Amino acid sequence: MQKPNIISAVALVALFAQGCGDGIPREVNFTEHVAPIIYKNCTECHRPEGIGHFDIITYQDAKRYASGMAFAAKEGMMPPWPADPHYTSFVGERIMSKRDIQILEKWVKDGLKEGPQDKMPSLPDYKPNYLAGKPDVTIPVKPIFLEANGFDKFLIVKVPFELPQDTFASLVEFIPGKNNLVHHVNGDMVIYDDSRKENVFEGEYVTNMVHDSTIRMAFEKLGLPNDDGTYPALQKSVVNYLPGAYGQKYPQGLGGYRLPKKGAFLLNDLHYGFTSDEAVWDSSYINIYYSKEPPKRPVQEFQLGTLGVSPVEPDLIIQPNTVKKVYSKLKIPEDISIMTVNPHMHLLGKSFKAYALTPEGDTIRLVSIPKWDFHWQYFYTFKKMLKIPKGSTIVAEGVYDNTRKNLNNPFSPPRLIKDNDGSMRATDEMFQFIVTYVMYEQGDEDISLDVSNKD
Ligand code: HEC
Repeated sequence: MQKPNIISAVALVALFAQGCGDGIPREVNFTEHVAPIIYKNCTECHRPEGIGHFDIITYQDAKRYASGMAFAAKEGMMPPWPADPHYTSFVGERIMSKRDIQILEKWVKDGLKEGPQDKMPSLPDYKPNYLAGKPDVTIPVKPIFLEANGFDKFLIVKVPFELPQDTFASLVEFIPGKNNLVHHVNGDMVIYDDSRKENVFEGEYVTNMVHDSTIRMAFEKLGLPNDDGTYPALQKSVVNYLPGAYGQKYPQGLGGYRLPKKGAFLLNDLHYGFTSDEAVWDSSYINIYYSKEPPKRPVQEFQLGTLGVSPVEPDLIIQPNTVKKVYSKLKIPEDISIMTVNPHMHLLGKSFKAYALTPEGDTIRLVSIPKWDFHWQYFYTFKKMLKIPKGSTIVAEGVYDNTRKNLNNPFSPPRLIKDNDGSMRATDEMFQFIVTYVMYEQGDEDISLDVSNKD
């Protein structure tokens, strides 16, 4: 056996004196080491007003869920952030450091010590971080009844409005009623031409995505078409909500909307996570902030894949007991600056990746989701505007797992699953990649998109 030389022996001694290296204390306790980590990474959701279905605040809470917490952190399931931070990084990233994960694991291994009371940090001050001042108009979303059954619910909800006149808005934000139940919202705005729609309030307000098999059927039930049966214009992604990210706010000069006199917000995907033990009503609402000026650089959107501008190839038909890879490609005719990207698949999704190939053959990374998680479908916002040069091709690739190994497979034994004419049922599949952007202007690369909702 080789003797360790003096230098490494000294280094080893020094390491032991500190603990295990990497700043991990020799003995981990809750108040000094674990609570700060949980308060930084978890309590935003795991507190009474958060969306997690249990609290992790006190020593007793943490002790009770300790092994689940350590497991969820180690597996990268919690905090929920499916995008690979080594591929691209985004605003509001929820990533736990390796050191923090190790401390959590060590705490469990060392027997869940409590630590000195006087070292206990105080819970961050979670102010409601929406309200960008005082809204000019508040429009209630029709209250939604949630049974006490613990199942996720995916709804399409119409929120019609009639304003005194056509105007402009700088921001539209969704405020959840039951903060702990509304998981996310992706919503568009229907823009009516006043003369073609008499009553924007007719028709139903809520449909369940699992029951209405196609988008067209759902839209008809909601009374969205014009009086002559044609379809009104749709402005995409006007109201998106994620826990901690209310309206999408952009730096000065970017974004903003033309608001029609008659319109409706169309919450295409209002997802309620774990419902509570008791039946409750959720009364969410939408705030509008007017703007005196028309939007200078309105944010636009395109969508690859299912119902989008570029086809899914090969067709999204996934035979039982197979793993299938598909892609969709779109050539970009002008220089653009991307702000957000949103990958979308359903339960068979296994992984997702998107990038742009420039005419020079460079690759611009967009997003990679190594382990698809149906529950967490974010609009990922780049830290700075991302220029995609004219002539580039955006490529989105998705892998679907229709085997028994996929624990989210809705069928056992697996069945043939396909992209069913835009069906949104979770049991049918979709492959979409949504990109929001503006036309490129010199200097866009330096514009930070990290705008806190607090200012
Ligand atoms: C963005 C909100 C959010 C954050 C931040 C968050 N959680 Fe969660 N967590 C949830 C929700 C919601 C669930 C319920 C499962 C679901 O909907 O996917 C959950 C479930 C869990 C579960 C149960 C696992 C399961 O499969 O049901 C554990 C354990 C957990 N979280 C631990 C943590 C820990 C530890 C942290 C911090 C390191 C954390 N969570 C951060 C929202 C969050």
